[in-house]
Amino acid sequence: MTESSYIAAHSFAFSVPPRRVSNDDLSTLMDTSDEWIRQRTGIAQRYWVDPPTTTSDLGVASARQSCTGQPDALIAATLSPDYCFPGIGVLIQHKLGLPPIPAFDVRNQCCGFLYALQMAQAFIAASMYQRILVVGAEVHSTGLDVSTRGRDIAVLFGDGAGSCIVERGNSSQAEHFEVIGFELHGDGKYASELWCEHPGSAHFPVRITRELVESGKIFPAMNGKKVFEHAVRGMTEVSRSLLTSHGLSPSDVRLVVPHQANLRINQLVGSELGLPADRVFNTIQEFGNTTAATIPIGLTKALQARLLQQGDLVLLCAFGSGFTWGAGLLRYHSALPER
Ligand code: UT7
Repeated sequence: MTESSYIAAHSFAFSVPPRRVSNDDLSTLMDTSDEWIRQRTGIAQRYWVDPPTTTSDLGVASARQSCTGQPDALIAATLSPDYCFPGIGVLIQHKLGLPPIPAFDVRNQCCGFLYALQMAQAFIAASMYQRILVVGAEVHSTGLDVSTRGRDIAVLFGDGAGSCIVERGNSSQAEHFEVIGFELHGDGKYASELWCEHPGSAHFPVRITRELVESGKIFPAMNGKKVFEHAVRGMTEVSRSLLTSHGLSPSDVRLVVPHQANLRINQLVGSELGLPADRVFNTIQEFGNTTAATIPIGLTKALQARLLQQGDLVLLCAFGSGFTWGAGLLRYHSALPER
């Protein structure tokens, strides 16, 4: 048995609900078109839940595939919890039939999975926990304005979940990623550029009123162009910075697995980093933007497509509401024979 030498992320999995929603399906609900959605976003379809499936249910469906053994902590990232409180961490813990392990909830939107992975890395490095289940899960569809008023946002989002296990590992173990490091940022100055304002404790004297519902302020709102510009700049700069801090450059990266908000954002980030198109892995065409689930879905799909070879460097990057942005570096290890 080789001695444990680094922190590893493995057993990546994802789950989406069975109902496929095409762009043409959306054009029966609002004034939009398949052509507009594909041209502006790259999205061809997404999956939306049917009742009674909740965010924690999707998280559980993914986590069941990741959990080959019992975790001693759980970190769940979402912006769309089943309830105002408690968060989905404890719901996932209970539905998986786990003992009363610590169940953390991360609220960092599109960067949620990166924040959760860094937390897991730090907990393992500190020997606080030995085996952490990390989940990103979202149900957007029930929180969107699917009338023409909400079309700029409603066409973007899909429901889904992704998960993995983080624990100590070494290169003799089954297929996994070595977790190299992260660089994360957040700046609440931009909170109102992409947010869901209500219901929240900032509203007096009660959190929800008929007027708020009728005005549409219970739905997400976004300054699309500003978010787009900041996303391209933020993801490019943080990726460069993280690589530099590890003595690396974009040309060392075999595959970028970025957050999936807009295909054009990811194409621009790739070209800013000087990478050919096939080095940037996208899933938005099939799943839309599943927020905290995009990165584990992307990693699972990239593994299934066998795009990686032993030692390949994988760059993760994300940008979203907060604003929050960040990047992560992983090294792929295939299942090498026991040394
Ligand atoms: O994951 C979280 C981070 N989110 C993002 O990174 C999203 C960043 N932003 C974007 O991806 C883009 O800004 C959008 C895809 C949201 C919008 O694309 P755009 O090229 O910036 O379009 P636009 O907002 O400038 O809208 C152009 C036109 C407008 O009509 P007028 O004013 O030119 O007549 C919109 O009303 O397109 C209209 N429009 C639509 N038309 C058909 C907006 N949404 C739609 C729609 N279908 N769904």
